[in-house]
Amino acid sequence: MKILLLGSGGREHALAWKIAQSDKCEKLYIAPGNAGTAAVGENVPIGIDDFDKQKDFVVNYDVDMVVVGPEAPLVKGVYDAFKKDDRTKSIPVIGPSKEGAILESSKNFAKSFMKRHGIPTAAYETFDVNTIDDGIKFLETLTPPYVLKADGLAAGKGVLIVPTLDEAKQELRKMLGGMFGEASAKVVIEEFLTGVECSVFVLTDGKNYKILPEAKDYKRIGEHDTGLNTGGMGSISPVSFATKEWMDKVEKRIIRPTMDGLAKENIDYKGFIFFGLINVGGDPMVIEYNCRMGDPETETVMLRLKSDIVDLFEGVANGNLDTKEIEIDPRSAVCVMLVSGGYPQSYKKGYPITGLENVKGSVLFHSGTSVKNGQIVTDGGRVMAVSSYGNDKEEALRKCFEEAKKIKFTDKYFRTDIGQDI
Ligand code: AMP
Ligand code: GLY
Repeated sequence: MKILLLGSGGREHALAWKIAQSDKCEKLYIAPGNAGTAAVGENVPIGIDDFDKQKDFVVNYDVDMVVVGPEAPLVKGVYDAFKKDDRTKSIPVIGPSKEGAILESSKNFAKSFMKRHGIPTAAYETFDVNTIDDGIKFLETLTPPYVLKADGLAAGKGVLIVPTLDEAKQELRKMLGGMFGEASAKVVIEEFLTGVECSVFVLTDGKNYKILPEAKDYKRIGEHDTGLNTGGMGSISPVSFATKEWMDKVEKRIIRPTMDGLAKENIDYKGFIFFGLINVGGDPMVIEYNCRMGDPETETVMLRLKSDIVDLFEGVANGNLDTKEIEIDPRSAVCVMLVSGGYPQSYKKGYPITGLENVKGSVLFHSGTSVKNGQIVTDGGRVMAVSSYGNDKEEALRKCFEEAKKIKFTDKYFRTDIGQDI
């Protein structure tokens, strides 16, 4: 098969690495890709939301399947664009329809979907500019801290957790006043849940599903989860509290009702579902849905997936995922993200990255890199994920940190406490 993968981050390098290992993959293209994906496939200079160019490329290069990494093209309707075009309607796109992607692009939709289908999540109400006073009254019924969420996508910044009622009221007014533009025209206010988070991933053909290895990501820039939120500073898989018993609860209370809900509501969904869960006193609850894999979770999940991912994708395309086997590596996988000093605020790009050839015992997934005059240079805040296996988490972590030290670029930073909290 010839496969086109959309995206350019660490998640896409990890997907590309896994796809390229398949005997079923004859040629892998990545649009637009990065310096890392160029080593496992061929990068093509097409933007993730340039659907016309993507379709032309698929037709001209006889591509058999499209795999979508990030949410942006899904939310904009890449699946639907391919289906609507006679030239490309038979080409499977791994990723949900625009309607399915609403699970991620509208928090109000996701919450109401969970309510309709009895899926455990924090109690909530949604408000707009005409119901600010009701929103204020609702806040008064809650206890601190207060959770306010812009309904739409706001570049990962749309969730505010504020300590006092006064601040919560002010933030609500600001959000509904256009703080995140159209994304905060509606605001979800919800009950604060206390617990440890865990990301669970499912691949579905719309009827059948396979559960991938779970993972935990580390979102804050500073050690011990302090400081600003980032795109993710590392991840671990497995997650110690995700025991068989806990995962059975996840499947029964969350995954199955979600699948049934999608079917009942006639939502066309063939791709990954990311369940952002929180463990509240032993019971899983949903914080959010995403319509794609997680980053940097993919950088550990792909290490633990032993099955041929292209075979699984074929199952998605043909609606017979139930006939496919999913095999998971029992070892631990850990990923530590090397970032540019200053990230997630301002940072410089273009620094040469050296020492990559010395890394032997880990897999490197490029996140923000490019090639300048034949030299790999930093080209983003999150630069590169160092992913390692270990017989246990500690061994995987030791390997990651050893390798992380060998890679050199100016102002390199990484968290040294990944995986220490559980
Ligand atoms: P979201 O974009 O909905 O995943 O929210 C971003 C982050 O805010 C989550 O990963 C959680 O760490 C935190 N968060 C969101 N909702 C809640 C909640 N109801 N209770 C506690 N923390 C939350
Ligand atoms: N790691 C969280 C996300 O990908 O949204």
